[in-house]
Amino acid sequence: MCAKRVKPVPRQVETTGHVWDGIEELNNPLPRWWVWVFYITIIWGVGYTIAYPAWPLLSRATQGVIGPTLRQDVAREIARFDEANAPVKAALVAADLASIPRDKALNAFAIPAGASVFRNNCATCHGSGAAGVQGKGYPNLLDNDWLWGGDMASIHLTIRHGIRNTADPDARYSEMPKFGADALLEDAQIAQVVEHVLKISGQDHDATLAAAGAAVFAENCAACHGDTGAGDRSQGAPNLTDAIWLYGGDRQTLTETVYNARFGVMPPWTGRLSEAEIRAVAAYVHSLGGGEDPPVE
Ligand code: HEC
Ligand code: HEC
Repeated sequence: MCAKRVKPVPRQVETTGHVWDGIEELNNPLPRWWVWVFYITIIWGVGYTIAYPAWPLLSRATQGVIGPTLRQDVAREIARFDEANAPVKAALVAADLASIPRDKALNAFAIPAGASVFRNNCATCHGSGAAGVQGKGYPNLLDNDWLWGGDMASIHLTIRHGIRNTADPDARYSEMPKFGADALLEDAQIAQVVEHVLKISGQDHDATLAAAGAAVFAENCAACHGDTGAGDRSQGAPNLTDAIWLYGGDRQTLTETVYNARFGVMPPWTGRLSEAEIRAVAAYVHSLGGGEDPPVE
């Protein structure tokens, strides 16, 4: 038997000199076009990091000699919009508050702008649809039941200065006494006045207790909530005769309210929003359905 001799491959390419198990490593050069593309990408890469922001430094990145960044593009776009809107913003700030809801041109800007201010700043408390959060004291802004007033000037004042906050000396302020916690009323009297509130809000109640509660109400509550319980906007005292509640109208919640009182706080917006933004969001809230005309003088 004689094994066929393997014909040696004619050597056209140099070897590297490495041999593994009889296999030699050839030293094939890379194709020339590939090498050129490789060099060009390196040059391009270096050029790019010089031209554009690239190398991270301690607090920021190198800025690049060409300069433009997406962030600058956005800033420029915003500046362009601001400039385009400057005249209508100035008109909004100069306008008589009460006239804004009747001014079609101003509203075309103010209401969408106000809606976006609302989504960013107010929706956390008042809800994205402005329906408030019942039980937590965040009022519904869609209805015509107002604590402090629903004409443009009142809404504007509420938004500018807020309510019961310590940050703004002009904030709207009032404070319901803690009738139970501060022992201003006895538990029995609280039970009576709660039945009276259930009665005037049209709910099931104990008639005997409610009759006694009417006197407690006249003496302790009417100064703020009014003789009939219809509320007083000058003090932000809510109407107790309707089915709209900040905290709740059931017996247990009412008892808690009378015992410990409530202290709803809204932050002021001057300083955080521009006057144009405050007016825009006031116009938006006014447009939601419960907006009132200015009080007749
Ligand atoms: C941190 C929560 C919070 C934020 C944020 C907030 N509010 Fe309020 N807002 C309240 C509370 C609480 C009340 C009710 C206070 C009270 O009991 O009198 C209120 C009341 C109001 C009222 C008065 C309603 C009435 O019946 O008179 C208006 C108007 C109002 N908010 C608008 C706004 C607008 C507009 C924004 C955004 C710019 C905003 N609020 C942001 C908590 C908030
Ligand atoms: C000094 C004024 C003042 C007096 C007096 C007062 N209240 Fe109030 N009351 C308020 C204010 C202001 C609020 C709203 C508090 C808030 O929004 O945080 C309120 C809220 C309430 C609420 C909550 C209503 C809701 O929508 O959830 C009830 C109920 C209530 N008062 C009942 C009474 C009763 C009953 C008395 C008498 C025993 C009384 N109040 C006395 C000012 C007063």
